[in-house]
Amino acid sequence: MEKLQQALQKAREQRGGVVPGPRPAAARPGSAAAIGEIWAALPAYEPQPKALIANRVVTYDAGAAATPFDVLRTKVLLMMRKNNWRRLAITSPSSSCGKTTMACNLALGLSRQSDIRAMLVELDLRRPAVAETLACKPAHDVTEMLTGAVPFEEQALRVRDNVALSMARRPSSDPTKYMLNQETQDRLKEIESRYRPTLVIFDLPPILLGDDTRAFLSNVDCALIVARAEKTTVAEIDNCEREIAEHTNVLGVVLNQCRYEDETTGYYGYDED
Ligand SMILES: Nc1ncnc2c1ncn2[C@@H]1O[C@H](COP(=O)(O)OP(=O)(O)O)[C@@H](O)[C@H]1O
Ligand SMILES: [Mg+2]
Repeated sequence: MEKLQQALQKAREQRGGVVPGPRPAAARPGSAAAIGEIWAALPAYEPQPKALIANRVVTYDAGAAATPFDVLRTKVLLMMRKNNWRRLAITSPSSSCGKTTMACNLALGLSRQSDIRAMLVELDLRRPAVAETLACKPAHDVTEMLTGAVPFEEQALRVRDNVALSMARRPSSDPTKYMLNQETQDRLKEIESRYRPTLVIFDLPPILLGDDTRAFLSNVDCALIVARAEKTTVAEIDNCEREIAEHTNVLGVVLNQCRYEDETTGYYGYDED
């Protein structure tokens, strides 16, 4: 038995934490059992907590660092449920504000909430970073899934029972052709109708840098803006909010990387939320 466990662990490590899921049995299509089976059939990814924390992803396990994200997760879920919204975009005025870190923290935080199912789809295709942030090596790129070259059930990775990650393996030189393609819309609808996620998070490019994001926003129900303290200006946030409001609902603005002063030591540090 111990040998079997060791062999399984070794195989898991060789695959970078990815374990193929079982084949789904034949439950009635569309039934709760069938939906559970197709989720279980997604290849599983078991993140390494240390690697996550080094990349500021702190929500895989409960704890003090996860709490601010848990509060945000609950607020987002409540607002989305109240309005019957399913698709959430995460964007920012410019790059490096913390969108991917936020999207990963939300997604892994949601994996601790077994009554919901969530997906994270990486669409900042010029600067993809989800796989690196989660220390993961997906076998296939999200664009292969969007074009239909690889089925979702082979491309996406499942964290715990209820979160699916569709990540990029490399930057794409022509993201517009994936983001604004009718085929992409059809594929996403088809996946949602089969997997019935409670919410789908899209990690999008910054809004003030190009038209792709703005055009894609009309396909989502709401958007969260990530601003970076000491970098993003109030005018940029205003601008970003106005742009988004033309296409979808603004869920809110999260101010990331706030510096704080420790009252006891006088030390200035960075807020992790
Ligand atoms: N709250 C934070 N405190 C300190 N560094 C952060 C914080 N959030 C993100 N970062 C770091 O900032 C960099 C950019 O973050 P990322 O999430 O990739 O931004 P974006 O997706 O908006 O380009 C990364 O190196 C990330 O680890
Ligand atoms: Mg990013």
